[in-house]
Amino acid sequence: MASPFRDGILDGKVAFVAGGTSGINLGIATRFAELGARVAVLGRDPEKAARAAAGIGQGAIGLTADVRDYGAIRAAMEDVHGRLGPMDIVVSGAAGNFLAPVLGMSANAFRTVVDIDLNGTFNVFRGCHDLLNLPGASLIAITAGQAVNALQLQAHACAAKAGINQLVRVLALEWGPDVRVNGISPGPIEGTEGMARLAPDPQTRQKHFERIAMKRWGEIGEVAECAVFLCSDAARYVTGTIIDCDGGSQVGDATQRSLDKGLA
Ligand code: HXC
Ligand code: NAP
Repeated sequence: MASPFRDGILDGKVAFVAGGTSGINLGIATRFAELGARVAVLGRDPEKAARAAAGIGQGAIGLTADVRDYGAIRAAMEDVHGRLGPMDIVVSGAAGNFLAPVLGMSANAFRTVVDIDLNGTFNVFRGCHDLLNLPGASLIAITAGQAVNALQLQAHACAAKAGINQLVRVLALEWGPDVRVNGISPGPIEGTEGMARLAPDPQTRQKHFERIAMKRWGEIGEVAECAVFLCSDAARYVTGTIIDCDGGSQVGDATQRSLDKGLA
């Protein structure tokens, strides 16, 4: 489907995407670059980061750091600031996930996911503030439905993503006049690492599918369009909110509709 956003709407903008070396976040970074932004992506694996930057093209920069390490993430953002100038857009999307019941999860396993997702988002946002182009900068956290709806085998991600949603709201309040802070909550997005991990077999895929009101999987490009909206002038009065880009997965019980042959 044709994009509603015209070419060049992000001309002159500088965008930093933490966790932007694969999947949904890479799709967001790619779309930003297509629309004119100069882009930096960051992940832990240097080869993956270099590949992602080359794939984006347009002089995109690939950086390596672990979002759990405040000093390393701050240094990476100072590097971007030195090379591209003040940042207009910062996306925090790095995440770790695996399926495990609480009793199959060590304290370190729980801490690891909270550390990447929640503390990582704190580090990215805390570290970028004085490197932003103010006023008018737009920060976007990538959260998930687990923030609001509990899911078995997901205690770590549920806790971490719920924390991200509240961090978004507090930062929107504290930084309100100069910086907009929002989140995007993707639904199950086809072809991603997240889907491969959370729905590793046909039965689990089917359970996820039944929750989707729109009865189709989401696409990376659809999450990217939401991100473009949030950092465009069209969203200039939008802050402190979480946009569900999930085909209605979190609205309620879509299973009944699937069971009714007249509607399915
Ligand atoms: C139980 C596990 C486990 C599992 C790891 N651990 N996998 N415990 N079940 N399947 C435990 C380890 O034993 C260890 O605890 C602790 O977690 C840390 O593991 P490490 O391998 O040392 O951590 P690290 O190298 O930092 O790697 C982090 C990771 C890894 C999360 C474990 O999978 C990763 O890097 N993932 C990044 C990519 C990713 O997950 N993408 C998907 C995001 S999608 P002990 O006690 O042994 O030391 C997403 C989906 C949202 O978020 C919703 C979609 C619908
Ligand atoms: P993905 O492809 O695994 O992307 C994760 C990215 O984060 C990669 O660039 C990864 O690169 C980086 N990363 C992971 N741990 C990091 C760390 N400690 N420090 C720095 N970078 C790190 O995942 P995805 O499935 O596209 O998910 C992307 C985002 O969308 C996540 O926030 C996820 O929770 C959210 N989400 C996804 C879905 C879905 O259907 N996939 C649904 C809801 C929400 P390295 O491995 O090289 O570090």
